[in-house]
Amino acid sequence: MATIYTNQTNLCDLGHPVVDLRSVNKPLKLRVPQDEDLPALLDILSNTENIKTDLSVAALNAQEREGICRRWLTLNNPLDHMNFIMIDTRESPGKPIGITGLGWIGPMENSSQEDFDDVSMRAGAAGVMVNPEARRKGFAAEALKIVIDYGLKELNLAEIRVGTPSSNMAMRGLMEGKFEMEPEECRQVDRFGNDLMWRINKERWSLFLGHE
Ligand SMILES: CC(C)(COP(=O)(O)OP(=O)(O)OC[C@H]1O[C@@H](n2cnc3c(N)ncnc32)[C@H](O)[C@@H]1OP(=O)(O)O)[C@@H](O)C(=O)NCCC(=O)NCCS
Repeated sequence: MATIYTNQTNLCDLGHPVVDLRSVNKPLKLRVPQDEDLPALLDILSNTENIKTDLSVAALNAQEREGICRRWLTLNNPLDHMNFIMIDTRESPGKPIGITGLGWIGPMENSSQEDFDDVSMRAGAAGVMVNPEARRKGFAAEALKIVIDYGLKELNLAEIRVGTPSSNMAMRGLMEGKFEMEPEECRQVDRFGNDLMWRINKERWSLFLGHE
């Protein structure tokens, strides 16, 4: 199977985690953000074009948004999130263009208390946000592809979920067009406003990679 990205991961010090994923197809790098990335994260998360479809972020004040961005700078054990800043590597130093990653990692439905520490019984919720000037260049599709692959294969999660409101035509276009995956309709709209959900396990992912 073709290599999608190169992977440098060192989680010895979760306070200063090193995770650096470089696309082999696009000038794109994903890394767990560091302190110096905080202003760029805040810029991305403050852009109304980026957050208008995400009810949970759109409602936050500046202080709350900063709290979220600071949370992304460190990781917890067991992992409960792993977010990445997206860097366009055509410029030196690289230019931050968006945010992606697993905003939530937690137990699968029906898993027992004993399963809690078993990462193979856990799921992750993936998302992506790209600044308007960097859109329609394939960055979001590539970033999400790397995040899904990393979550399933490197983190060994059982399932990656991608949710969106059905009104988000860009995200639906991405998932249905680029990943050729149909969503399931949620019984209830979640707190992010999502009523569509894609569930991707290792089998579904292998099928996609095989057909690509
Ligand atoms: C959704 C979003 C991440 C897409 O970013 P992007 O970098 O422009 O996406 P890509 O360039 O990788 O697009 C891949 C495909 O998605 C589809 N797509 C992207 N934007 C689209 C739009 N506005 N309308 C319809 N389809 C769209 C197209 O099929 C596109 O392929 P094409 O350009 O070859 O036609 C971006 O619009 C965004 O950040 N929106 C705000 C945040 C958000 O809604 N995030 C999703 C929540 S998880």
